[in-house]
Order: sequence, then structure tokens, then C-alpha cells
Amino acid sequence: MRPYFRSRRIQKGTVDRPELRTKDPRWIWMNIVPIVGILLGFGIIGTLSYLGYKSVVNHTYCLVFTDDFSSGINPAIWQYEIQTGGYDNGEFEITTSDVENVFIRDGQLVIRPTLQTEEYLQSTTTVNLTSAGTCTSNVPGDCILQVNNTAEDIVMPVKSGRLMTKNTAVIRYGRVEIEAKLAAGQWLLSQMIMMPAENYYGSWPASGEINIGIARGNNATYNGGNGNQRVQSNLYWGPDTTQEPWQYTSGTRDALHSEYHEKFHTFGLEWTEDYIFVWIDYRLAQVFYTKFRPGGFFALGNFPASYSNGSLIENPWTGPGTGPATPFDRPFYLALGVGVGGTSGWFDDGVQGKPWSDKSTAPRLDFWKARDQWAPTWNETGAGEMIVRKVTMWQQCDDGATDLSAFTKRGKKK
Ligand SMILES: *[C@@H]1O[C@H](CO)[C@@H](O)[C@H](O)[C@H]1NC(C)=O
Ligand SMILES: *[C@@H]1O[C@H](CO)[C@@H](O)[C@H](O)[C@H]1NC(C)=O
Ligand SMILES: *[C@@H]1O[C@H](CO)[C@@H](O)[C@H](O)[C@H]1NC(C)=O
Ligand SMILES: *[C@@H]1O[C@H](CO)[C@@H](O)[C@H](O)[C@H]1NC(C)=O
Ligand SMILES: *[C@@H]1O[C@H](CO)[C@@H](O)[C@H](O)[C@H]1NC(C)=O
Repeated sequence: MRPYFRSRRIQKGTVDRPELRTKDPRWIWMNIVPIVGILLGFGIIGTLSYLGYKSVVNHTYCLVFTDDFSSGINPAIWQYEIQTGGYDNGEFEITTSDVENVFIRDGQLVIRPTLQTEEYLQSTTTVNLTSAGTCTSNVPGDCILQVNNTAEDIVMPVKSGRLMTKNTAVIRYGRVEIEAKLAAGQWLLSQMIMMPAENYYGSWPASGEINIGIARGNNATYNGGNGNQRVQSNLYWGPDTTQEPWQYTSGTRDALHSEYHEKFHTFGLEWTEDYIFVWIDYRLAQVFYTKFRPGGFFALGNFPASYSNGSLIENPWTGPGTGPATPFDRPFYLALGVGVGGTSGWFDDGVQGKPWSDKSTAPRLDFWKARDQWAPTWNETGAGEMIVRKVTMWQQCDDGATDLSAFTKRGKKK
């Protein structure tokens, strides 16, 4: 009789079972070879790490200052930057030394933008910080702002603050650490930057700028992840404003499930004649790292031979004293501030209801007219201000880091 159900199992004896066979003496090598390989791999990694570690020069650092603001805004460290030029970004704030914009609260430094009044804006067509004797720039465009009533333009609609160490603390190679909460609020820009103490290689960006960190105040939904959860760090450099490929030397770092206004973070810079990098909270958490290479920044920029008008693009970074680090081989100072708006591309037109266009003939007025949208976002709890708890600066003090004598033969530009 045929069984109703026939087993479909493979019949005994038809399957090869290698584990039951007597062991082939070559079997051992099947294990030894990969083990030896793995050990060799670890050995190579270890040796490379050791050599890498050995090649990192551990420089000595000398404290320039450390400030926890327990003694207020110390004039032996900080100067107020007072300008109405928009800081090369077309920003919408005048920076002041007013106590409403820069002050100490609970032993911490606060930088907080505030609004001008409608009456002031309607009645003011010229701001002349030169005649007031307060301007901290020697460029007239940073000190004097005149607007055209016929075109219905306005002077800076917002007051803010920016502290700098230009007259008191500059470094050439060294370290900086800033413990801060960055500002939340629409169209705010928290800025922690280092600027050249003098425009030795020419005006911006030829003498360089080190952006330790900039964060927008817009919330995390802004422009595909470019809100307050992200810090951008970069170097600015180039023969002039038409040629400045900062993208080659930049990076971003996102806060973990949070925004940078929520809690204090440490923003660190380490800069030697061989490299420069920025980290957040831990030295290994780098935002960008740039190794200075032979050929220097002019080779890195890979600039075209000439401008569109036919003039040759010249290398501004030549002459005695220069090297792979140039222009980041001269003294720089630290600046901390909160910018507002701007027309240089930090905020893309049309995103999150941006109320002005970078190409507008009166962007400040467009911005001001929309204050009912953005001003309340500055007034939310914990928003509208950058809070700085501690700042420390060290100068690298070995390897002739502070020796500028090699530069003396070079004629200064501008
Ligand atoms: C601003 O003030 C300076 C110094 O007093 C003066 O020379 C200049 O003409 C003024 N500019 C304007 C536009 O008022
Ligand atoms: C002021 O704006 C009006 C209207 O846009 C324009 O015709 C005039 O040329 C402007 N004046 C100056 C001095 O720019
Ligand atoms: C983010 O900001 C936009 C614009 O102000 C606002 O519409 C939105 O509600 C905000 N989202 C959150 C989660 O706060
Ligand atoms: C050509 O353009 C560059 C960059 O804008 C400028 O610096 C230079 O002066 C211009 N040259 C001439 C001859 O106009
Ligand atoms: C923020 O709130 C303060 C106090 O309530 C008020 O004086 C100020 O006008 C508000 N600012 C903005 C930008 O809404």
C-alpha cells in the first residue's frame, strides 16, 4: 500500500556531514592563518598609532588669560566693539557698549540684541560713530551709516554687542576654549571668531579669519538641519572677496538631540604652525581639521589664473616669514558677539519665511517690518542671548611661536 503521506526528508546517508569526518591535518591552518592575520593587523595598527603619537609634538602653552566673569567685564581683557557696518555680512545690528546689550548676570557674560524704537528709526538718517568718537574700526563704512529716506531705508534696526580682545590678548598659535550657551531666536547668529590683529596680507579675507563657531538661532526645523542644533566652524582665506573658498576648510557638528542654546558647551581651538582644528566638548569631537600643506593656501585654493576682468590673481601670501600656515601665521584676537540677519548668505532666501531678500535694496527695512514674527522668538525663555561662562586663551610658547622677526623685511599691505 502506498502511504498517503510520503516524507520529503532527505534520506539518511545521502548528506555529507563534514563535522563527522576524521579531521584533515591541514584544518589547523584554516584557523591559524586568520588568527595570525588578525594579530598582525593589531600589530600594524599599534605601531602606526605609536608612530603617529610620537610624531605629534606636544607643545608647551602659556596662559594668556582665563576669565569666568566673576569680576565683571574686565577691561584688561575685553573691549567693546562698536560698529555699524554689518561686519562684512551685511548684518542688521549696530554693536554698542550699552548695558542692555552686554552685561553680567549671575556671574556670567550675556550678549543680548534689543530693538530700536520705531520713532528712532523714523527720525534717524545718519549714524556717525566717528563724530561720536566711539567707533572701533578705522574703516569709514564700519562707522558711518547714512540712509536714503526717499528709498525708505532705515539705519540698523537692532542693537547688539560684541566683545573683543584686540588690544589686550592676541595669539599666534595656541589654544582657546569658550564655555557658552548660544543664542536661540530667529535670524540670530552667535559668533565666536578670531580676527587678524592687523591686515598684514591685505583686507578681508586675505589676512584670514578663524571661525571657531557660528550657530544660527532658528530652531531645529530650519533649512534641513541648519538651525540651532548645528555649529559651523571654518577658516576664511583668499586673495579677495571674489575668491574665498572657505568650504575647503570647514566642518559642522550637531548637538546630540538638543540645540546649542540649551546647555553649556565648550568650543575649543587648537592651532600650531602645522595644523588647526576646532572641537566641541572633547578634543576628539572635531568640527574641522586642516593640516597646513606645502604650497600653502594658494595651492589649496586652486584659483583661476585671472579674474573675469582679465587681471591676474596674485598670491598674497609670499615673502619673508611666510610658509604653509600663511595667512594663519600672524597674531589673531578673539571676538564674541551676536549678529542679526545679514545679506551674505547665512540665511537662504525664502526659507522659514525669511522676511528679507539678500538682493533687496532695503533689507533692513524688510526685516524690521516683520518684527512681529521674529521678535517674540527672542523673548522666549532661554532665548535671545548668548551666555558665556568662561573663556581661556593660551599662547603656544615653544618653537619660536611668538617670534615675528622673520616677517620684518616684508612691506605691510593696507
Ligand atoms: C561723520 O563725522 C566725521 C567726524 O566728525 C566727519 O568728518 C564726517 O563728515 C561725518 N560724516 C557724516 C556723513 O556726517
Ligand atoms: C534715494 O532713493 C531714490 C529712490 O530710490 C533714488 O532715486 C535716489 O537716487 C537715491 N539717492 C541716493 C543719494 O542714493
Ligand atoms: C520653529 O520655528 C518656526 C518658525 O518660527 C515655527 O513655526 C515652529 O513652530 C518652530 N518649531 C518648534 C518645534 O518650535
Ligand atoms: C579686476 O577684479 C579684481 C577683483 O574684483 C579687482 O581686485 C581688480 O582691481 C580688477 N582689476 C581691474 C583692472 O579692474
Ligand atoms: C521682550 O519682553 C520684554 C519684557 O516683557 C519687553 O519689554 C520687550 O519689548 C520684548 N521684546 C521683544 C523683542 O518682543
